[in-house]
Amino acid sequence: MTDWRISLFEPDFNEDDERAVTRPLRDGWLTMGAAAREFEDAFAARLGAPRAAAVNSGTAALHLALMALEIGPGDEVIPPSLTFCACANVIRATGARPVFADIHSRDDWTMSPADLEAKITPRTRAVIVVHYAGFACRMEEIASIAKARGLAVIEDCAHALTTAYRGAALGTWGDVGCFSFFTNKNMTTGEGGMAAARDAALDERIRRLRSHGMTTLTLDRYQGRAISYDVTHAGLNYRIDEIRARLGLSQLARLDGFLARRREVYRQYRERLDGSAITIPFREHDIEQTGVHIFPIALPEATDRTAFIEALKSEGIQTSIHYPPIHRFSAYQEYAECGCPLTEEIAAREVTLPFYPAMTEEQVEIVCEAVLRLVR
Ligand SMILES: Cc1ncc(COP(=O)(O)O)c(C=O)c1O
Repeated sequence: MTDWRISLFEPDFNEDDERAVTRPLRDGWLTMGAAAREFEDAFAARLGAPRAAAVNSGTAALHLALMALEIGPGDEVIPPSLTFCACANVIRATGARPVFADIHSRDDWTMSPADLEAKITPRTRAVIVVHYAGFACRMEEIASIAKARGLAVIEDCAHALTTAYRGAALGTWGDVGCFSFFTNKNMTTGEGGMAAARDAALDERIRRLRSHGMTTLTLDRYQGRAISYDVTHAGLNYRIDEIRARLGLSQLARLDGFLARRREVYRQYRERLDGSAITIPFREHDIEQTGVHIFPIALPEATDRTAFIEALKSEGIQTSIHYPPIHRFSAYQEYAECGCPLTEEIAAREVTLPFYPAMTEEQVEIVCEAVLRLVR
């Protein structure tokens, strides 16, 4: 492992987290049970959502949302291309076809409502929006297009954990809000996720599908509530376990502290890089209304990005790219001409700087000094 002076991300665990992960071992029950239910209830309450189903990744949440909406062969689903590959992979896994939408502008890197509308065909069943870096998509416009055209809305909230947007939490605007608790997220369970469905019947299908389509759980049989089961759907094993659920509860209790510190780091970055040749996106957005998950910048067009990243690396500063456009990956080469010019431009200039709650003012200053010197 490279010994970074400043790494891209560092998780934050304390003694409460440590106690949380060992509790299921002492309780003697590890598979999905009481802790998972407690985590679901606490998470739903935090969102102001009627319900949420805990799963073992954000990818599982997205896949289950599509499966529960009965999306499959012959259908089209519109995700952005400037996102993590899971958004398109899950569409493919159902047998449906992804149709990529461009970003809105050089400032707002979330899905363009106009391009979404342009890419709807009679086969389109759903849209997957991604609240990039934690900044809300144009949800009023997207929700109204979806309503008019009869599309389901899946919100990928992997970066948006958890924020109110114009009075309602992200993840409660669409039909299903999908969350990830992967290690680098605003709170973590190692691997883990949550699917918050607005509709009770949809939630019921998600819960059934996450556990093989079975009508009872191992816990039900252990507790004598059932002796057998039926399989009503061809489901999968997307269950969370009690160890992760306990860590999730502990991290959820710490989330406000993480978010407050993330906002301070974000503000320091913004102030320090302001007025330079670097583009800091989402200038119109209020940081108090975001999950502030990453700190992305776009380099000036003339800057050699690879040389910039290598120069920072030589100073011990780790960076990342969010994201290589999905339509440029080998598995998606048939989409090379998918009509996402702004995505192409921004994705070629984007660099993500180190960003995490425990980052000190001094560390932010070291990164900013190096960045400004290198683009000058
Ligand atoms: C935007 C986005 N969507 C989906 C995922 C998939 O989540 P997971 O890694 O929990 O499967 C991630 C993160 O990893 C993500 O950043």
